[in-house]
Amino acid sequence: NGQVPSGNEHDALDVVMEGLRRLEYRGYDSAGVAVISEGGIESRKKAGKLTNLVGELAADPLPRALTGIGHTRWATHGGPTDQNAHPHLADDGRLAVIHNGIIENYAELKAELTEQGLSFVSDTDTEVAAGYLGHLYRTLIDDGAEGDVLTQALQQACRRLEGAFTLLAIHEDQPGTVVAGRRNSPLVVGLGDGENFLGSDVSGFIDFTRRAVELGQDQIVTITPDDVVITDFLGAPAQGTEFHVDWDAAAAEKGGFDSFMEKEIHDQPDAVAQTLLGRSDTAGNLVLDELRIDESILRSVDKIVVLACGTSAYAGQVAKYAIEHWCRIPTEVELSHEFRYRDPIVNEKTLVVAISQSGETMDTLMAVRYAREQGAKVVAICNTNGSTIPRESDAVLYTHAGPEIAVASTKAFLAQITAAYLLGLYLAQLRGNKYRDEIAAVMDDLAEIPAKIQAILDDAEKIKALGTDMANAKSVLFLGRHVGFPVAMEGALKLKELAYIHAEGFAAGELKHGPIALIEEGQPVVVVMPSPHGRDSLHAKVVSNVQEIRARGAVTIVIAEEGDTSAEAYSEHVFYVPVSPALLAPLLTTVPLQIFALALAGAKGYDVDQPRNLAKSVTVE
Ligand code: G6P
Repeated sequence: NGQVPSGNEHDALDVVMEGLRRLEYRGYDSAGVAVISEGGIESRKKAGKLTNLVGELAADPLPRALTGIGHTRWATHGGPTDQNAHPHLADDGRLAVIHNGIIENYAELKAELTEQGLSFVSDTDTEVAAGYLGHLYRTLIDDGAEGDVLTQALQQACRRLEGAFTLLAIHEDQPGTVVAGRRNSPLVVGLGDGENFLGSDVSGFIDFTRRAVELGQDQIVTITPDDVVITDFLGAPAQGTEFHVDWDAAAAEKGGFDSFMEKEIHDQPDAVAQTLLGRSDTAGNLVLDELRIDESILRSVDKIVVLACGTSAYAGQVAKYAIEHWCRIPTEVELSHEFRYRDPIVNEKTLVVAISQSGETMDTLMAVRYAREQGAKVVAICNTNGSTIPRESDAVLYTHAGPEIAVASTKAFLAQITAAYLLGLYLAQLRGNKYRDEIAAVMDDLAEIPAKIQAILDDAEKIKALGTDMANAKSVLFLGRHVGFPVAMEGALKLKELAYIHAEGFAAGELKHGPIALIEEGQPVVVVMPSPHGRDSLHAKVVSNVQEIRARGAVTIVIAEEGDTSAEAYSEHVFYVPVSPALLAPLLTTVPLQIFALALAGAKGYDVDQPRNLAKSVTVE
């Protein structure tokens, strides 16, 4: 049926493998592909990294083809085995399906299908979805259905499936067609010339096109080389929203660094600068045109709730100090997955700020939906264009950090703090309170941050060497106070994620209430020292804390402000960051902690871009 690429047409397998490579950053534990060629559908899949699949394809090549699908799996139902990897085949091998998400009613469907004589070879919910789709397809054909039966079958299937899913299907009876359905899981369409693409995000097809279409909730999309048709689950025509992808393909490459993480740490001056760009006028007034929420509503806000997970939640915790100071609005920071289940007090006067690098974290998405149901307005702080959380929020403030590929977040963290600060300053400006005069000065100080980060990066050899030397550490504690407290927790998180060692961040003031019992001879403790020029005596208090732990044998590693010469007297190792106002210090003090974790994990020989068990965007609850 002519399904072989001619001279200037792309081979489906090449496109799919390139897309999978670009999506590797999402974290996965197995991979697979399927193509439709003249001989019908053929599939290869393999547990482990993409190289395993590449090896399999070399040993047992697939034919050239015009239509193909590919998937990287992060195990939920059933372990990471070859068998459980996607695609899953159905309709006697004529149909192939890949899936992201979790199908919650799969057990019930599996029982029904088994009753009808179907058998399953994997433990996955996906194979059940494939079996169900195959069954619907066959029934439609037997009933004499005409036209695009695969799309009709997927519409029917999606109406019955519960949970979160993006499902993609191909059938050998419809060789030029890929059909996809989505509920709660990400899916973007790429528009090419005589070819079209689908991906979990735009990096899947960034090499081939910059024109993309975002889909709404509960939609089906059918792509052929020349057409993209969107419907709802009932088959009624629906619309997507076209947008232009301005990410540079090269920005998604390592750019000469050993790892994406190292590159992204070095991207940080740019990430902060880009996030600041165009958001203030020459007089230092904030201009946030994208914040499309009525000013009168923003003025009447009486509480801010920041919702996020992981590193993004620590960015929220840093921002809380600044937002409360500038805006005088009580600000809570809560982990998204805790928030929704405790009957929180949220109403029309609550402003929710949802922070998510990926814009796809299911826990945060669900918390956003819940908050909006309670009448709150939601502003998303997000790094990924066209992702779900911004789409479902009232407004979005994008961080312009560029694609973050390494699983452990670095540049997104600094960009998130920056964006949250802009939001806080904007609210202060709008509400005209007594800190209004600080705004222009803070904007000036923020403008100097990128160069200060660069200075830290240019002088990173010493902290790298220390990280390498400490490769055998069993546990590292982190202490901080005020904004330095969430920085300490983020420093500890980086070490857990990358180096798989026990690490914990404490508020320095809390030390004497328990954690000091952990200190024994040789215990490394990283201390994020507050500026000695602060308004109160925090610096002196933390110096006392350091003395207390040193007296008990701790080895102290201090991140201090340049000129804080006293630091040498109370630390085994001291690293300096440029002087900055106290609230902006996290944009600097975080950087040496990232470099430290990177070097330590590197010395242990670990894959810093894809740490074990972790996923870049966790699209399941
Ligand atoms: C995962 C990642 C973390 C990230 C968190 C929140 O756990 O491994 O690095 O901080 O999700 O992700 P988000 O995309 O919502 O910021």
